[in-house]
Amino acid sequence: MRGSFSNRIGFIAAAAGSAIGLGNIWKFPYEAGSNGGAAFLVIYVICAFVLCFPIMVSEIAIGRRTQLNPYGAFVMLSGSKSWGFVGVMGVLCGFMILSFYNVVAGWAFGYFLHMIGGDFDVAKDFIGYTTDFWDNLFFSMTFMFVTALIVAGGVQKGIEKWSKIMMPALVLILLFLIGYAFTLDNAMKGVEFYLVPNFSLVTGKTVYTALSQAFFSLSLGMGALITYGSYMNKSENVVSSAAIVTLSDTTVAFLAGLMIFPFVYFQGLQPSAGPGLVFVTLPGVFEHMGAFWGRFVGASFFLLLCFAALTSTISLLEVPVAYMVDEKKWPRKRAVWILATIIFIIGLPSMFSTGAVKWCTEFISYGGSTHDFLSVVSDIFNDTFLPLGGFLISTFAAYKWKTENLSEELAQGNPNYKGSIVEKFLNMMVMFVCPLIIGIVFVITILQKFIGIQIF
Ligand code: TRP
Repeated sequence: MRGSFSNRIGFIAAAAGSAIGLGNIWKFPYEAGSNGGAAFLVIYVICAFVLCFPIMVSEIAIGRRTQLNPYGAFVMLSGSKSWGFVGVMGVLCGFMILSFYNVVAGWAFGYFLHMIGGDFDVAKDFIGYTTDFWDNLFFSMTFMFVTALIVAGGVQKGIEKWSKIMMPALVLILLFLIGYAFTLDNAMKGVEFYLVPNFSLVTGKTVYTALSQAFFSLSLGMGALITYGSYMNKSENVVSSAAIVTLSDTTVAFLAGLMIFPFVYFQGLQPSAGPGLVFVTLPGVFEHMGAFWGRFVGASFFLLLCFAALTSTISLLEVPVAYMVDEKKWPRKRAVWILATIIFIIGLPSMFSTGAVKWCTEFISYGGSTHDFLSVVSDIFNDTFLPLGGFLISTFAAYKWKTENLSEELAQGNPNYKGSIVEKFLNMMVMFVCPLIIGIVFVITILQKFIGIQIF
């Protein structure tokens, strides 16, 4: 028997859990702050609700109609094996994105344990921690182990149950941290950097950045939501559930900025994004909060990061697992443990990319610079395959599966859907606007990253 979510809340918790991840916390705030503040926020919200939302709805509908993994879903709806390659690409993305996402999650987990254990040493810094072979191996292996354990529990007793625990916990920790951050000196300077609108910074690049971020943040383009949609009951409303997921993800991304910048400005430091922000700048800030608060706030922050990452890693693992279960008839537990082991091994070169092994740090050159292994995997699978997947998913829904069938599926659990303005909007977006704009993003990425032509 194929698993299913017990109700609407179960689906929303799992899908919001997939969406809310490292991207929301370490990338979104800085992108907003450095690309025009509130002006960026407005563009981001439009990208999320106007351009990404229709893709999310299409993915969930494809999954729910077929009750299959992405590969099986495309084959079934198209009646031909050749469309299956879009699904295979998605399964491959799940595989490869998880391989490095888990490494980063492992760092967060390691920092959490060091913080709570009270033996965190800022002087050892990021490179010190991430190049410590045994430390790293242990933390990322544990993280993958926990991910696998949850996915092995099944849809209801694993994914749904743990998402329902971790998501509310994440929100509470985030609210606590924002509350604390606002009591710090210079908190308002941070908020100013984050939110004061600066329209002169808004260019084509701003829109490209906002759209790429929204797309990744909503877990689109690789069939994660086809997979979760395949566990959704027919009696539920796809459109409103997707709207809640989009809103939750956007809200958490917005709130993360209200926590990050007061922290950064408390020490008068320069904001940045990515590993540097989370693993270098912030630990230095926590240290200045005193022995008790530093440890408490630091541990809370890294626990937040672990929860955000864990609900995302389970969605990434679930995509290849569903493929093996549906297509190869493997028992779930076997699929989980074998895949998790292989993905962990594929992730090792990403783990060594921070300096431990030279061929991993200087893996290959393209687009005019040398890249480490982790960035190469991220450039290919995140930045290139996800928009390509989004383009193909919307084109497929509109022209192969056809909007009548999409509407048919969306009307289940939403009797007023047909003939509504929402239907007209979604159909128009899926047919014309989404493929065009996301196709452009894909082309720009190829030109910019791999060919080295500077568009922006
Ligand atoms: N959305 C998550 C984040 O913001 C990452 C993620 C999880 C993801 N599952 C995905 C991205 C599937 C793309 C596709 O960190």
